[in-house]
Amino acid sequence: MSYAAVGPAVPAVPPAAVLCGVGAWVPPRVVTNDELAIRLDTDDTWIRTRTGIRARHVLEPGQATSDLAVEAGRRALACAGIVAGEGVDAVVVATTTPDRTCPGTAPLVAARLGLTGAAAFDVAAVCTGFVYGLATAAGLITAGVARRVLLIGADAYSTIVDPLDRANAIIFGDGAGAVVLRAGNADEPGAVGPFDLGSDGAHEDMIMVAAGGSRQPVTLDGTSRTDRHFAMRGKEVYRHAVTRMTESARTVLSKAGWKTDDVDHFVPHQANLRILCSVADDLELPRERCVTHVESVGNTGAASIPLALADAAARRTLTPGDRLLLTAFGGGLTWGSCLLTWPTLPTPAPPHHQGEHRTP
Ligand code: UT7
Repeated sequence: MSYAAVGPAVPAVPPAAVLCGVGAWVPPRVVTNDELAIRLDTDDTWIRTRTGIRARHVLEPGQATSDLAVEAGRRALACAGIVAGEGVDAVVVATTTPDRTCPGTAPLVAARLGLTGAAAFDVAAVCTGFVYGLATAAGLITAGVARRVLLIGADAYSTIVDPLDRANAIIFGDGAGAVVLRAGNADEPGAVGPFDLGSDGAHEDMIMVAAGGSRQPVTLDGTSRTDRHFAMRGKEVYRHAVTRMTESARTVLSKAGWKTDDVDHFVPHQANLRILCSVADDLELPRERCVTHVESVGNTGAASIPLALADAAARRTLTPGDRLLLTAFGGGLTWGSCLLTWPTLPTPAPPHHQGEHRTP
């Protein structure tokens, strides 16, 4: 019996997810190391030598993560040539600082971008959120659920870090970065993948906000200030970050059959300049191939990789055909990597305001 009449014998090749837009935004207010040293027992030299950070941007009181996400999303949509949100099927927001515990931030962001009706949800993987979100958004496309997805990494750590905690207040900044993915072919520039994703929940207490979830609801009388704020065991996290990022980068390179030397730009999560340099050294990647943005924005959590991408694209550091390795690490613990070849894109608007000094 022949089945020829009932349909094609060979299944259609599933679409690949192709990056077709990038954009980012940081709030105008710049906080320099010297400004932090006024209220904290720290100084510019300590911060610069231990982290590479010179300044960070922070929200004004009353602003929230969705305000960052909407600006970055708008810029990525414009870069992708998408007018009035037409044809975007899903909006994914990777964040550790959602506007509220409930509901997710993505539906509000979608509505404010004129995308009411699109699927919208948050991804929670702390500083690895963008890479997890990229895998999730790509999965929506390869599964045929969506044709175009807006993925935004947005975080406002200034809202959860204790302003008097010198160990963390110096590191983090607020910002958002976004990409648009569309259905396309695996062999065209911009196609994302392969991926490597991983986690180790045995170390959940290494990076945490203890109170505010179901394990430890916030109570008026029983919640200490420490429990409500972001806490991190920096030295231990540092060691895990270097090891896991290096391993994850090696894994994804071997999945694709790339050698380290094939990588034109290493775009790591911008945690600390010393971590980025250590990972690049361990991978035997020349440090000048490491895209860094941490000097002027600090650690912006889930926003850091798309912010670095948008900043590099705005400065025309990324040229079509360049091969990129994205690698992240964060609370959970979580880590992940992804490869892509940079596509031809219109130059996006810079994440910083015009005329602003990037490095004070
Ligand atoms: O994004 C998610 C992943 N996050 C990360 O990857 C962050 C990883 N960790 C780090 O980046 C670093 O561990 C930090 C930047 C957080 C800290 O740098 P460190 O070189 O590990 O410093 P440390 O915590 O070992 O502290 C060294 C000394 C301590 O003093 P003593 O005990 O040696 O007298 C600290 O009390 O530096 C002191 N210190 C500071 N001094 C001036 C800690 N913070 C400060 C500060 N200013 N802001």
